[in-house]
Amino acid sequence: MSRVIVSPSILSADFANLERDIKLVENAGADWIHVDVMDGHFVPNITIGVPVVASIKKITSLPLDVHLMIDNPEKYINAFAQAGADIITFHYEAVNDVDRVIDLIKSCNVKAGMSINPKTEPKLVIPFLKKLDLLLVMTVEPGFGGQKFMPDCADKIPLIKKNAGENLIIQVDGGINAETARICTDFGANSLVAGNYIYKSNNKKEAILSLR
Ligand code: DX5
Ligand code: ZN
Repeated sequence: MSRVIVSPSILSADFANLERDIKLVENAGADWIHVDVMDGHFVPNITIGVPVVASIKKITSLPLDVHLMIDNPEKYINAFAQAGADIITFHYEAVNDVDRVIDLIKSCNVKAGMSINPKTEPKLVIPFLKKLDLLLVMTVEPGFGGQKFMPDCADKIPLIKKNAGENLIIQVDGGINAETARICTDFGANSLVAGNYIYKSNNKKEAILSLR
């Protein structure tokens, strides 16, 4: 399998020093920058939106992996694409017409990702896998960084891998560290989001290497 894509989540960064903290992970070998957008409705927390993505775009050349934990994501896809998102991931649970949202993301020339919450059965997303660029399996309830990895969620990966095309990126997000990363990559995940594990580490290069 090709190299695992590591996408540090800036939710664990210092928002007063976002440029510094993005450069830190960029210099430590990060592949993407994971941006968690929360609306206080789909999840019980509020984070950042379009203007912050536009500002980040100016200070990094790494692809921006934008994770929308919001209701009605279709309303904001164009704005996030304009702001410089390279991958836009919405939640299966947040939309009525999955095909329409995937088509909308693709029409903006952005990679299309879809995420499933811990309680969502993986068989529900099988019909969409061939159309998606990325499927994100949440390994915690979305909303907050620093939560404990839920091993049952990783058990969904083999079914997704079995039904996916060769090019689907299977990403996991929530409670990822060197140990839980291995569980996920052994099952077939090839992209890892990590917030606390990378940002709380004194040696970010080693932390990123330990995930691969
Ligand atoms: C949680 C977010 C994650 C979060 C991960 O809702 O989607 O991206 O930042 O944080 P850690 O790696 O600390 O669990
Ligand atoms: Zn995320």
